[in-house]
Amino acid sequence: MAGKKLYEGKAKIIYTTDDPAVLLTYFKDDATAFNAQKRGQIVDKGKINCAISTYLFQRLEAAGVPTHWLETTGEREMRVKALTIIPLEVVVRNVAAGSLCRQTGLPLGQILNPPLVEFYYKDDNLGDPLLTPDRMRVMQVATEEQIAELRRQAERINQILTEFFASCAITLVDFKLEFGLDRQQNVLLGDEISPDTCRLWDQATEDETQRVMDKDRFRQDLGQVEQAYQRVLERVMAQSHQR
Ligand code: TMP
Repeated sequence: MAGKKLYEGKAKIIYTTDDPAVLLTYFKDDATAFNAQKRGQIVDKGKINCAISTYLFQRLEAAGVPTHWLETTGEREMRVKALTIIPLEVVVRNVAAGSLCRQTGLPLGQILNPPLVEFYYKDDNLGDPLLTPDRMRVMQVATEEQIAELRRQAERINQILTEFFASCAITLVDFKLEFGLDRQQNVLLGDEISPDTCRLWDQATEDETQRVMDKDRFRQDLGQVEQAYQRVLERVMAQSHQR
């Protein structure tokens, strides 16, 4: 099935297929943090993230959000529409955590209502800097209409995912999205949605360490990383059978 290796990233490998409009995404167990200064493996992460992403992409599609997902063809691989990636990381925050707290002094856990939508430049050499609307204009990283569309889609995705994770007794604290353009220049959601790209807090406990069900367990050496990812998968799958 897989053709040539097109690109190997930190967590995934992209292969060509015999259809130029379709690519194959392979999910690895490799994990990195702090712009790859910290490296490791999370056993079975590739399988778990592939399964969680598959379900969430399907759920978003069912709600009318266009995504690159076409078909999941193996435990670690999905066929996706080939997109021209927009080099932005769109971060949506419902609760203050991570770099927002570090950079602004806002206390961990402060509710952000309305949610914050932020744009970072996807460039490891520059350390993925936070952009401003003026910087995006000067850099011509996307048109103003495209940026407005990214914000609109990110807000809609946030509504759908926040509600779904709440039904799993999980708070969707924040998450990162990547988008691309298809041949008709439509904006489609790409990449993955998983505990690698979301902060997820277990609503069953307020303990600041115990509640963490995402990659922060790896970033901060909190232990029980595999177990946390597995628990997210179990809750997502249990809820997926509800309707
Ligand atoms: P941050 O608080 O470190 O800026 O992260 C915000 C969200 O984005 C969090 O859910 C983790 C996710 N994220 C990624 O998916 N990839 C990254 O490279 C970074 C820095 C964050």
